[in-house]
Amino acid sequence: MSFSPRDFRDCLGQFATGVAVVTTRANDGTKAGITINSFASVSLDPALVLFSVDFRAATHDLFTGECTRFCINILRQEQQALSDAFSAPGQHGWDKVAHQDDCHSVPRFDDCLATFSCKRHAIHDGGDHSIIVGRVQEISLGETGNPLLYYGGRYRALDRE
Ligand SMILES: Cc1cc2nc3c(=O)[nH]c(=O)nc-3n(C[C@H](O)[C@H](O)[C@H](O)COP(=O)(O)O)c2cc1C
Repeated sequence: MSFSPRDFRDCLGQFATGVAVVTTRANDGTKAGITINSFASVSLDPALVLFSVDFRAATHDLFTGECTRFCINILRQEQQALSDAFSAPGQHGWDKVAHQDDCHSVPRFDDCLATFSCKRHAIHDGGDHSIIVGRVQEISLGETGNPLLYYGGRYRALDRE
């Protein structure tokens, strides 16, 4: 490898993304969520999307194990605090966001730009991450607004609509 991990991260950071929180519920009833920016669309028919989850994340074994249903909540610009809360240890974001259970008891944020309710379709090897492919079962488009963006290792906002 002719580059350092720092240089690799810096290059990856040049790809601007949105930010989402992937939510699920464990078999014991506990809610779990993780902030991600690895969301990508995969296929239109069937409707497939993906995200990747770090092996070291507390939620990794849920998303690759018992939690076969999850919801991907695309964050608004005003929801940076949720991104921070769900990227910190302890699952303290839940009291910061109104949410409802979908018909499979998966918590879904009330007010975000869009949500994708998914059933796990596949898990792929992604090095130190697992790539989770979800088959989209339901979608919901929120009120229009601006996305929370992540670029160069920090949050950004659209400067033009
Ligand atoms: C903007 C942003 C994007 C992130 N994207 C991912 C991601 O795609 N996959 C991932 O595993 N972790 C991602 N993380 C890190 C996780 O959110 C964080 O490390 C994880 O929730 C830590 O959880 P734990 O303390 O419960 O282990 C991201 C964090 C931020 C702030």
